[in-house]
Amino acid sequence: MLLWLLIILTLLCSFIFTKTTKGIPKSWFEWKTEFRYQYLGIVGLIHDAQYASRDRVALYKQPDRIAVITGGNRGIGLRIVEKLLACDMTVIMGVRDPRSAEDAVGGIVDLSQTKGKLICEQLDVGDMKSVRAFAQKISQTYAKVDLLINNAGIMFAPFKLTADGYESHFAINYLGHFMLTHLLLPKLRAAGKPGRNARIVNVSSCVNLIGRINYKDLNGLKYYYPGTAYSQSKLAQILFTRHLQTLLDAEKANVQVNVVHPGIVDTDLFEHSATTAVPFFKKLFFKTPERGSRTVVFAAIDPSIEGQGGTYLSNGGKGPFHADAKQPAKCEKFFEHSCALLKIKQYGNGEYPL
Ligand SMILES: NC(=O)c1ccc[n+]([C@@H]2O[C@H](COP(=O)([O-])OP(=O)(O)OC[C@H]3O[C@@H](n4cnc5c(N)ncnc54)[C@H](OP(=O)(O)O)[C@@H]3O)[C@@H](O)[C@H]2O)c1
Repeated sequence: MLLWLLIILTLLCSFIFTKTTKGIPKSWFEWKTEFRYQYLGIVGLIHDAQYASRDRVALYKQPDRIAVITGGNRGIGLRIVEKLLACDMTVIMGVRDPRSAEDAVGGIVDLSQTKGKLICEQLDVGDMKSVRAFAQKISQTYAKVDLLINNAGIMFAPFKLTADGYESHFAINYLGHFMLTHLLLPKLRAAGKPGRNARIVNVSSCVNLIGRINYKDLNGLKYYYPGTAYSQSKLAQILFTRHLQTLLDAEKANVQVNVVHPGIVDTDLFEHSATTAVPFFKKLFFKTPERGSRTVVFAAIDPSIEGQGGTYLSNGGKGPFHADAKQPAKCEKFFEHSCALLKIKQYGNGEYPL
């Protein structure tokens, strides 16, 4: 009986996988990765339901604050932008298509009703030259940046190298944001005051728990599996967050950096996922993008976490994260490796190194 159930389940899964760009897993390792994703997804959905009442953020007016966000033209990011504008902030979106991003925000926010300001600038966060141009524009125009939200991301994309030669999940989800943060840190330091830190928020994921940094093949050149590339990039964001907070503490900067799992959210991020092939599943069980934006904005503005950097937040509270990220030496090793890749000599001095 159990064997039949297993066979039927495997056939059903295989059928669903044929509907995705990933195709049917080809080895025990790939099946295992998929099962671990399903397991974390189910645990994530239970967590989202269990802590739904804790998952909220109080918006308040902060017209003097300048926020920078990557992405933001759709999905969770769009609802983050909506909330920041409701706080009357100046919001600078780094997006691939500024004109359509402006239209997307205009579609959900009455811009005449906010004292906030919306600015859309060109950014491909997976391209270091574009990151440099975007950061340069901000640095030349603004004396300070109060919030940096590293939100843009991709999931389960087919193998692709960026113009700089990095695997696309690694470049877009992690390395481009690592560079952007380095370039904008002088402006973040300028914004922070005692009792009112400037804040950086890295949008990661619960799948960091199954991530592994493959130092021997970071770009998956020898072997590539989309699920492995995504979880590696999401663990990378947490290692980065933890070590950066250590550095900021050492220099007594009024800047804090946190990392967030937004929940399991119904967005286009799942375009390559088998979940999308199951009708109504996402609509029925996933968070809406509005709910998905709450913990990110909580990390960005909530006074209750003032001075508490280096934490992993999920559903408005602390959540479980990868054991490697609890070991300062492992965080530092990866941070230094990232600096070496990008030839950054002094992280956070704002100088473009390449
Ligand atoms: N949805 C979830 O369940 C979930 C769970 C855990 C974590 N997350 C994380 O939440 C973040 C937002 O995801 P989402 O669910 O809102 O996904 P989404 O709806 O697919 O939005 C992704 C955003 O990233 C932008 N982006 C992608 N590649 C880019 C690039 N090279 N340069 C600049 N922008 C780029 C997209 O802009 P374009 O329109 O130009 O592509 C879009 O604004 C991601 O970091 C994701 O890993 C999401």
